[in-house]
Amino acid sequence: MTTKDILSPYTKGNLQLNNRVIMSSLTRGRTTNQGLVPTDLHATYYAQRASAGLILTESAWVSKDAIGFINIPGIYTDEQVTGWKKVTEAVHSKGGKIFLQLSHSGSVSHADFFNGNKPKGPSAINPKEKTFTPQGFKDTETPEELTLQDIRNTIEDYRKASRNALKSGFDGIEIHAQIFTLIPQFLSSLTNQRTDEYGGTIENRSRILFEILDAAISVFGTDRVGIKFTPAFFSTGIIRPQEDTLSDYQYILGKLSNYDLAYVHIVAPGIDLSDTPLSSIKDDYFAFFRKHYSGTLMANGGFTLEKANTILVENNADLVSFGTYYIANPDLTDRFQNNWPLATADTDTYYQGGEQGYTDYHHYDSKKQSLP
Ligand SMILES: Cc1cc2nc3c(=O)[nH]c(=O)nc-3n(C[C@H](O)[C@H](O)[C@H](O)COP(=O)(O)O)c2cc1C
Repeated sequence: MTTKDILSPYTKGNLQLNNRVIMSSLTRGRTTNQGLVPTDLHATYYAQRASAGLILTESAWVSKDAIGFINIPGIYTDEQVTGWKKVTEAVHSKGGKIFLQLSHSGSVSHADFFNGNKPKGPSAINPKEKTFTPQGFKDTETPEELTLQDIRNTIEDYRKASRNALKSGFDGIEIHAQIFTLIPQFLSSLTNQRTDEYGGTIENRSRILFEILDAAISVFGTDRVGIKFTPAFFSTGIIRPQEDTLSDYQYILGKLSNYDLAYVHIVAPGIDLSDTPLSSIKDDYFAFFRKHYSGTLMANGGFTLEKANTILVENNADLVSFGTYYIANPDLTDRFQNNWPLATADTDTYYQGGEQGYTDYHHYDSKKQSLP
């Protein structure tokens, strides 16, 4: 085992991780109660996965206005804080660490969630996505443009959500800034055509990202806040990389380097980047982030044990996160350690099913498996 093996510990400031196997955020649609409150079932699920070096929770709404999909928990009411407390206590009692992922849907939502009022986004531009409301799958519509006061309120919502996360006992916060959520809606000039200080140049388009980070940091401190994003998101709607995406990210990564966050979490592209505006980094994707970001890097997207160890040895990441593996392999760290086989998850129960496909994936029993 090398010192940079995936199973080796990692220390950053006062954050100490037992290993570098990180559970990435997985929305599982089990918060079926009216108040969007995490339950004992969530506590059981996360405690089963406590041997990860760090658990990143499913995304949680920072406010009622942030909702954009059914059965996802929030972190804006006292009841939700009480629910999350059960989760953090269950994980801590097993020696684990857990960050809460904070999210806002922006324009990728629907009037069904807001008594018929339109959702709000950076500009009045339909992102052309789909969203799942209590009435089923719906196409997004043209949102209302956030006013400057709405933007200030949104940043305060992130600050309150961070305070609630601290009260709930979380070890830190991850800001969800990938796919088509509010922050990428601001970063993309396809969905952000504002003419004020939040639109136009990358300094302006990324302003909200840094204001949200500052709000979370004001509660947790820099070494307890991470951010997850990717320039390589190719939506079925309108958000996709542009000619200036790489230079935008160079600017963002340069500015983030002054923050010394817990980590910057980067998702690998799901497609071949040839013939895209990101083709120049297609063969050495993570090296681009290493070059432009000086702090802790977490890599994600299609990693196996072997690939994870390779990227650590090549020094293009410090931590590696795993999403789908964690659905059916609650003891992923032990499976990696012992070379035990990995179980495959049932995709039908990814986003529904109560206990089924959620807490009924068991830890590997090597004795049972070796019986004839
Ligand atoms: C069922 C499911 C739910 C997901 N929910 C979230 C989420 O809430 N927040 C997030 O940032 N990523 C989410 N993701 C993406 C994963 O965290 C991860 O980035 C992705 O699955 C790639 O990693 P993998 O190849 O190890 O699975 C989800 C993925 C799946 C399969």
